[in-house]
Amino acid sequence: MAAKLRAKIAGTGSYLPEKVLTNFDLEGMVETSDEWIITRTGIRERRIAATESCTDMAAKAAERALKSAGVTASEIELVVVGTVTPEMSFPSTACFVQSRLEIKTGVPAFDLSAACSGFLYALDVAEKYVAAGVAKKALVIGVDRFSQLIDWSDRSTCVLFGDGAGAVVLSATRGKSGVMASNIHSDGRKWDMLYAPGEAAKTPFVEQGDQRSSDEEHRSQYLSMSGNETFKVAVRTMVASIKEALKDAGIGAEEIKLLIPHQANQRIIKATRERLKLPEERVYMNLDKYGNTSAGSIPIALDEASREGRLKRGDIVVFVAFGGGLTWSSAAVRW
Ligand code: COA
Repeated sequence: MAAKLRAKIAGTGSYLPEKVLTNFDLEGMVETSDEWIITRTGIRERRIAATESCTDMAAKAAERALKSAGVTASEIELVVVGTVTPEMSFPSTACFVQSRLEIKTGVPAFDLSAACSGFLYALDVAEKYVAAGVAKKALVIGVDRFSQLIDWSDRSTCVLFGDGAGAVVLSATRGKSGVMASNIHSDGRKWDMLYAPGEAAKTPFVEQGDQRSSDEEHRSQYLSMSGNETFKVAVRTMVASIKEALKDAGIGAEEIKLLIPHQANQRIIKATRERLKLPEERVYMNLDKYGNTSAGSIPIALDEASREGRLKRGDIVVFVAFGGGLTWSSAAVRW
């Protein structure tokens, strides 16, 4: 009997915008300090897509992933993009990427909306197409341009986020490498812990009520978050999701060579790591440079970890994310 078909991560790529926004820059914009931001979050600077669109970032990350995999765009049979800041409401950013990279006509390309869990949701779906033999090679992208969702006068949120994109090429294999287990979860009842109404809030046909000032109306389209509550739920759900992935893969936490968590806050990552009894050197962090890049966060970190030689063939790498929705997700992969 032939070995099971698996989705192997054949290549990685990422793109970070040129413009750097430091904590010191933010000190000039809102009442905050470099010290407060570093102590509470671990973030020192983030990138802002001042000239790049969502498609620009996604396409550049995808091109780099194709190059690292040694795969041509003409071999791609599926494109899935996790994003909540698409190029347009429609068509999907995945369709724009298909056109930009000259991926074959007829190849399915679509976006998934799962906020900061967007990349892992996209990976989960694409992995199933590959493992079922429907697509031999798939492009999976996580991209967000959160700078367009932020109220830059709100210090409680504007210090946390940045823009960026990451991508992987999945390739069907009957070898041992590839996705061993993957889970995705949601709880729509807790949608109001973390949300951004966006353009939908702008229509003049929605009754805003007489009491609301124009300033409040202006702000209402931007990202809103219950920081403390989000923090606690993030740790709880990420730990549970990792344990589920480990159980489904039939391995123990001690076998994790590298945990690549969503880069939201170093205190969330530390609390998650401690509950799994993982040593610090087995957990990847780059949020000091980029902040929380939402769906871009995990594939950007994976690309950097891979380029830094942190992953060797056969290593177990585990991803975990948490985001608005609420959504959460984890995957265990043999490199
Ligand atoms: N600079 C200075 N002070 C700030 C500030 C800033 N940027 N943002 C908030 N503060 C103030 C608050 O107003 C508050 O002041 P007060 O005590 O006078 O009321 C104080 O700092 C403490 O605020 P608090 O919200 O309790 O801080 P915290 O330790 O919980 O940290 C977060 C706040 C947002 C960093 C933290 O809750 C967090 O990271 N939550 C998760 C957010 C997240 O990751 N979301 C995305 C998930 S995908």
